[in-house]
Parts: sequence; C-alpha cells; structure tokens
Amino acid sequence: CDTFIANYQRITRGTGRLMLFAGDQKVEHLNDDFYGENIHPDDSDPIHLFRVAAEGKVGVFATQFGLIARYGMDFADVPYLVKLNSKTHLVKTGQRDPVSPLLVSVQDVVDLRDRTGLAITSVGYTIYIGSEFEAEMLREAQQVILDAHRNGLLVVLWIYPRGAAVKDEKDPHLIAGAAGVAAALGADYVKVNAPKKEGATPAELLKEAVLAAGRTKVVCAGGSSTDERKFLSELYDQIHTGGAGGNATGRNIHQKGHDAAVRFCNAIFAITVEGADVETAWKI
Ligand code: FBP
Repeated sequence: CDTFIANYQRITRGTGRLMLFAGDQKVEHLNDDFYGENIHPDDSDPIHLFRVAAEGKVGVFATQFGLIARYGMDFADVPYLVKLNSKTHLVKTGQRDPVSPLLVSVQDVVDLRDRTGLAITSVGYTIYIGSEFEAEMLREAQQVILDAHRNGLLVVLWIYPRGAAVKDEKDPHLIAGAAGVAAALGADYVKVNAPKKEGATPAELLKEAVLAAGRTKVVCAGGSSTDERKFLSELYDQIHTGGAGGNATGRNIHQKGHDAAVRFCNAIFAITVEGADVETAWKI
C-alpha cells in the first residue's frame, strides 16, 4: 500500500493527473511510426525515446519490458510503465478479430524492479472489447490488476472497442462502455481513443466516459502527429471540459527531433500536471 501510494504520488506529482508518454508502438505499429517522411531521423533509434523521457517532464514512460530491461539502467531516474501485452498491426480488423495476450507477467516486472531498483511504477494492458477474444483479455486484465496492486504497481488499461462486431470504434457511448469496464475491473487509469460524433466536440463527448469510469481516471490517446497548438488546445479541453485525468501521448512527441520532443513533452506536462493554460504551454 505504501509503495502504491508512493508510485501514485510520483507519477502524478501528487495531482492525480497522469502525463503518460507512450512508446509502445515498436510492436503496435512496427517501424511505421519511427522512420519515414515527416518523422525526424532521431526517432529511428529506440534510445531517442529514453533520452526524451529522461530530459523531458513525464509522469510515466510506457514501453515494453525488453526495452526497459536493456536501456533502463542508463536512464534510471525515469518512472516506467511496463506494457505487458502488445500485438502488431499486420493482421487487419476484418481479417481476424484482434487479440493481445500477455508477453510478460506482473511477477517478471516485479523481479526486474527488485533486481535493478528501476522506478517501475506501473503496468499497462490492452483489451479489445467486442473482439471474439475479449474473454481471454478480460480475464488476463483482471489478474494483472490483482497481481499489480498486491505489488504496489498502478494499472493503466488501454481499452479499444475493435473487431467485426464493432461498427464505430469512436462512438461516445461505446467509449463510455469501455471506461465502465475499466472501473469494473478496478483499473487506476483507462486509456481510450477520444470519442467522435458529428455536432459535438470530443471534450463534450468525453463527459459520458468520465462519469462511467467513476474513480478510475480517463486519459485519451494522442493519435498521429498533428498541429502542435491544436493538440495542446484539445488536451486542455479534454481536461477542463471533459474531465480527463491526464493524457497519453506518443507519436506527437517522439516523431520530433530530440530538442523539439523534449519541449513538447514539457508543454503537455504543463497543461496536464502544472495547471498551465494553452498560451503558457505554447511558449515553452
Ligand atoms: P499515440 O499517441 O502515438 O497515438 O499512442 C497512443 C497509443 O495508444 C499507443 O500506446 C499504442 O501503441 C497505439 O496508440 C495504439 O493505437 P492503435 O491500436 O489504435 O493503432
């Protein structure tokens, strides 16, 4: 319990709001997010993610076990979240429903933490609700939450409605359903895609999910790289209008070169954790 509270205070700086820097795409999206047009060459080497997480302000840096085991000791001050499951995007929805079983156990993570002294504060797990394999992922997620909480680790569930049974992945009512699933399982945070529907802003639409999640806090995925100012302004609205408990941002940070990535990380942190307005964050 003490470890859990210390981890919670550390990754939210005592505010309860989480700035999650997402770096799990090497599996999720293969090299598509790290190499190519409009992606800074710095991003082609995995060490870029760690340098940004170490020099920028982040609540927690989320990536796979193997990367943390191999690079973590050189960046020992970074608070880590180990993403326990992942799958690639090679098999498309329509070909087969998505499934993402555990790659490592909570015990493996606890062993790594205790052996190295790294600041491993939390774990993450993705569930695709609506998939024909959802039962397997729900069961694993529940066990992950039990094991993680017993060991003082926080849990962030990534929950995406996805599969042949899902007509609209961003339907606000369905996103609220995903948030409710996270609450029912006992997750600390749930990461969802920002809801979308004609005639309303994503921040307005997010309110249903925030209510459904209750004491589980809702954060939205960042998505593909976009205009910086627009991104900051949407994030501000998600928090102040929608009631989001933070953010989860990957590509919008790491696809920039080192200095720009650190600056943008700090701007996101300022809005999420330090209470800055868009104008102040923009000037960072
Ligand atoms: P981004 O900010 O780059 O969108 O990252 C958020 C994230 O949830 C990652 O953690 C994850 O790898 C990815 O998006 C999953 O996206 P999808 O399955 O929708 O392609």
